[in-house]
Amino acid sequence: MNAIRPNSAMARDIAFHVHQQTDLKAHKEHGGTLFTKGNGIYVYDENGKEYIEGMAGLWCASLGFSEKRLADVAYKQLLELPYYHTFFGNGHTLATDLAEKLISIAPVKMSKVLFQCSGSECNDAAVKLIWYYNNALGRPQKKKIIGRERGYHGNTIASVSISGQPHMRAGFDIPLPGFKHTDNPNYYRGHEEGETEEQFSDRMAANLEKLILAEGPETVAAFFGEPVQGGGGALTPPRTYWDKIQAVLKKYDVLLVADEVICGFGRTGNRWGSETYGMKPDMLSCAKALTASYQPLSALMISEKIYEAMVKQSETHGTFGHGFTYGAHPVACAVALETQKIYEERDIFGHVRAVSPAFLGGLEKFRGHPLVGDVRGVGLIAGVELMQDGAKRVPFPAERKVGIAVMNKAAEHGLIVRAIGDRIAFTPPLIISEEQIGEMMVRFGKALDDVYATLKAEGLAKAA
Ligand SMILES: Cc1ncc(COP(=O)(O)O)c(C=O)c1O
Repeated sequence: MNAIRPNSAMARDIAFHVHQQTDLKAHKEHGGTLFTKGNGIYVYDENGKEYIEGMAGLWCASLGFSEKRLADVAYKQLLELPYYHTFFGNGHTLATDLAEKLISIAPVKMSKVLFQCSGSECNDAAVKLIWYYNNALGRPQKKKIIGRERGYHGNTIASVSISGQPHMRAGFDIPLPGFKHTDNPNYYRGHEEGETEEQFSDRMAANLEKLILAEGPETVAAFFGEPVQGGGGALTPPRTYWDKIQAVLKKYDVLLVADEVICGFGRTGNRWGSETYGMKPDMLSCAKALTASYQPLSALMISEKIYEAMVKQSETHGTFGHGFTYGAHPVACAVALETQKIYEERDIFGHVRAVSPAFLGGLEKFRGHPLVGDVRGVGLIAGVELMQDGAKRVPFPAERKVGIAVMNKAAEHGLIVRAIGDRIAFTPPLIISEEQIGEMMVRFGKALDDVYATLKAEGLAKAA
């Protein structure tokens, strides 16, 4: 760890800036990393060190870090109409165009789009609309929301309440009442001896049904799910999971909200994770790759039955009482429209499908590594489980923080990945080439080998 020089950018950062989702005590003592430049899939820190951004930032910089077309379109929009809102029936044609575009590419028939600035706000708005909808239908008791353990839906009070991340609740008096959680569908960690993926999915669906029955189906309004869990560990669902979950939701008239904030726009090899897994949501939230993350924007798509109920409510109350100053910001909408053009002109989703075998195959080769218990992914998202004994599914002691050790070593070798507990997540920019994937694997392999050598010396790792 380098000493922090007085008056350096890092010293000033520690003095003045609260970092998000950060161990504040560790940051206060050791600082972090400040980045100054990006180029393609690479980013550079203030000392000029190069990193492959194996997480595309926060699963989001889909077109990498130097797409000039997006910079140009933002600049042009800033000169033309840098701001306008969508309150009181006002708006601008960019939001109109983007809403029309999103409805035309939705994975199932959707009716309208509501814009916010972030994924969290999008899911928060979804909760409000679900409550509004059930009030309009005259069933005010049908309000409970079900999320999943280790799910990640954002940071507003409602979106954390849907999420199942213990560290985001602890000390904050969250979740709100009425937010319930069902199993995390991690087959590798959670399956019983001899249980197949299909049987595991049966059990996940049966547990969801038990929860709905215990709460009373007349009180359960909606289920939120990410097609592939991001903050839960870049975790793909087990085979037949979504079919079985959706059958239960349908049986009890529970709405499905697909949280496509990570999966939307190509991450799984199709435009939507819902397409990859046959999900038929009533609402869909998306953000991140909507604008390639060059501007903050999120979109909530809703089906006609939800919209009809909203109009009915608006008739009763006079105004649809919801809105954000920066929702549908014209610069963000301009960037989103250009991003969508780039995806189509360059067939970015086809590219994801073309390079996915190199990505998943490259990670699969680490299955034989003595630190690796399991590897799972789809498209350009994958998670690698680090285990003391992979075959017997014996984890490392949590306090040894093996995941963090691998993440830090990877950074030393010029690769940014994310440790989620002892699961290492990868979601590189969608533009990554096969050659760059190869380089990413080399850097990851070095990190694994370094940490293995240390753990072996400590007597914590098995023989190779
Ligand atoms: C699936 C999912 N939903 C919602 C969010 C929250 O989005 P934001 O950070 O833009 O509020 C995230 C953020 O990573 C996410 O992964």
